Amino acid sequence: MCGIMGYIGEENATEIIISGLEALEYRGYDSAGIAVYSYEDIICKKCIGSPAELKEKTSELYSNIGIGHNRWATHGRADEINAHPHLSQNGIFAVVHNGIIENYEKLKTELMDKGYNFVSETDTEVIAHLIEENYKGDLKGAVSATLPLLEGSYALAILCKDYPDTIVCAKRSSPLFVGTDSNSAYIASDISALTQKSKRIFRLNDGEIGLLTKDSFKVYDTDGCRIKKSEIKIKNIENNINKDGYEHFMLKEIMEQPASIRKTLSEIFDGRKIRFKGLKWSANDIKQINNVHFVACGSAYHAGMVGAYVCTELFKRNSTAEIASEFRYSNPCIDKNTLIVIISQSGETADTLAALRIANEKNAKVISIVNVENSTISLESKNTIFTKAGPEIAVATTKAYSAQLAAIYSLVLYLAVISGELKKIEAVKYIDELKRIPEKIETILNQNIDYKTLSEKILNSEYICFIGRNYEYCTVMEASLKLKEISYIPCEAYAAGELKHGTISLIDKNSLVIALCCSDRLSSKTLSNVNETKARGAEVLTVVTKKISGDIIIPETIEIYYPLLEIIPLQLLAYNTALIKGCEIDKPKNLAKSVTVE
Ligand code: AGP
Repeated sequence: MCGIMGYIGEENATEIIISGLEALEYRGYDSAGIAVYSYEDIICKKCIGSPAELKEKTSELYSNIGIGHNRWATHGRADEINAHPHLSQNGIFAVVHNGIIENYEKLKTELMDKGYNFVSETDTEVIAHLIEENYKGDLKGAVSATLPLLEGSYALAILCKDYPDTIVCAKRSSPLFVGTDSNSAYIASDISALTQKSKRIFRLNDGEIGLLTKDSFKVYDTDGCRIKKSEIKIKNIENNINKDGYEHFMLKEIMEQPASIRKTLSEIFDGRKIRFKGLKWSANDIKQINNVHFVACGSAYHAGMVGAYVCTELFKRNSTAEIASEFRYSNPCIDKNTLIVIISQSGETADTLAALRIANEKNAKVISIVNVENSTISLESKNTIFTKAGPEIAVATTKAYSAQLAAIYSLVLYLAVISGELKKIEAVKYIDELKRIPEKIETILNQNIDYKTLSEKILNSEYICFIGRNYEYCTVMEASLKLKEISYIPCEAYAAGELKHGTISLIDKNSLVIALCCSDRLSSKTLSNVNETKARGAEVLTVVTKKISGDIIIPETIEIYYPLLEIIPLQLLAYNTALIKGCEIDKPKNLAKSVTVE
């Protein structure tokens, strides 16, 4: 959430920062801004919308040093005044910030009492004024005096008119990276914005303050002592961010799912053998696990719901899926015999990271399933399984979600076999079928399904409800989120059996019920619920296998794997609906790809 980019060197900072902000746009795109040091002053330019809009406003702006920001609004509307950078009252400091200052109202009141005027509605502006208040001619000293006053989270880049050759950076709980090369240095919220530019990349840790000049990077700890930083070993960072001829990243990423699942599985399986590099749990450790919690947010939570069902079924332990923002404040009863599976595409989601820290503190067994290497969650987890979905650009996740499912199935099979709950001979059936899933997804992607007509049904309905049971319930949760986030159509997902406990009162001739009915075990039950809605006039759209008649027919599989197949046509249905509506598919309004605030 919010992207920071900074540059100091011998080239045009304005161009470099704006192109960096474009690469970081998935972090927030409601407004953007840049501050550079030029003609002995700090010049600040801002715009509503994406950083591309900044280009026109800054075509004349040449400088060798500057900071920029993509905003995802937390405090105050998305307008130019609230866009970052924010200037101190005397105009000496410019600040960009990712995070939330939780005590900003108190700080603001105190500063106003001292005569400071606030121009924006943001929490960030207090930081600029506080640095001014604490400035006695020493930039680092002013920043060091300010940071302890801030409660909440921040990644900061600061420019000071009196220090035209220096950028200061600091962080707490929000990610920030520094890249250096000969005669240049960069700051960015995401490592991917630095890999092509910098030879050496460093991660700033919580509490550290970094001072960058074009040829030095000095880091100080909370006590003000200079510390030595080790550079991050960069491996496997893909920078393919082209649409490859597709109209949208989302469609490209939907089509990439067979490949990304294959890649994820190929890292885990050696033939039929499951290997998790670095996982050091003995069979006894695994046998001692007595309950499992999958903890995540959004789509990753939906993947965790599947994990909980499959873990209960095969590993035979009480397993739950927990929403990270709830879990972190629930005082969970977990100990060394609890397995916590953290799931996050970005590896930076604030609530999921907080949940991981709680699990670590309580000494639970923890394994994280993460797509982005060097992300905070991957670095703070003792055990990580990397999904191999590659960079996912569309804000609505598709290929990272299915890769998470592939990793979850592999993990649960591993736990079930090692613990002896699943006989090796039985596991073969599951492993072989898991490996056949990418081909079955290809079949669905190549099917001639008239999504346009099906989307019309959605567009013509006043109330849309997705229903399914067990694994199919998890999938309807994800399908409904996909439709909501990219087409802005209100809809909901229900466990099919729950409908009659209240929500059925909403069903009438203007309703559309989208039902998943592939499970051999449960489809007849779900179809009964479908009939109950038909009897009340609802239009129905079903996803089925060839065993029964329905609207979308998909290949058969073992029940646990239907989430990987059934989601595919529903992703395409959401995509086509948003396309007909003319929505901004890759960057839906109000959303950001990486949610680094609470
Ligand atoms: C889904 O399409 C969303 N992008 C969102 O729900 C996402 O899954 C959630 O914010 C979690 O993100 P993470 O996997 O990066 O932690």
